[in-house]
Amino acid sequence: MALLPVLCYPDPRLHKVAKPVAQVDARIKQIVADMADTMYEAPGVGLAATQVDIHERIVVIDVSEDQNELMVFINPEIIWASAETKSWREGCLSVPEFYDEVERPAEIRVKAIDTNGKDFEIAADGLLAVCLQHEMDHLQGKVFVEYLSILKRTRITQKMKKRAKELESQR
Ligand code: NI
Repeated sequence: MALLPVLCYPDPRLHKVAKPVAQVDARIKQIVADMADTMYEAPGVGLAATQVDIHERIVVIDVSEDQNELMVFINPEIIWASAETKSWREGCLSVPEFYDEVERPAEIRVKAIDTNGKDFEIAADGLLAVCLQHEMDHLQGKVFVEYLSILKRTRITQKMKKRAKELESQR
């Protein structure tokens, strides 16, 4: 089991755009395993490679109650999104202890590659739809707080910087 350090907002590396995975090989499978370990340890319901400073299009998600249904999305793409939207209170491992409402399409269809290198498609609604869109935003260098007002974002940035300093002084 390997835990990867998670970047915290406003780290500029969170704004890098991830590159597509060319081939699902042993290296990618190791990244997926480490990302899953990191997500479960946090605990969180989703993690994008960008958050662990790996800038390749990889997402792991587990929205099951018992946290025993790992979903892996390599090179995910939204191929359809509903016109209907829904607001959800989101959080993020890169913005600890902060939650706020974000409005997104209520239902989506996503195509991706699995850990065997096989194409698949999935229809998602509810928490899974929210989580997929949130994690795919990370791959584009976007953190959910960027949907909020500048005022809120400034406040979050200040809080995060203060928190980082406190953690630093505890070391
Ligand atoms: Ni996040």
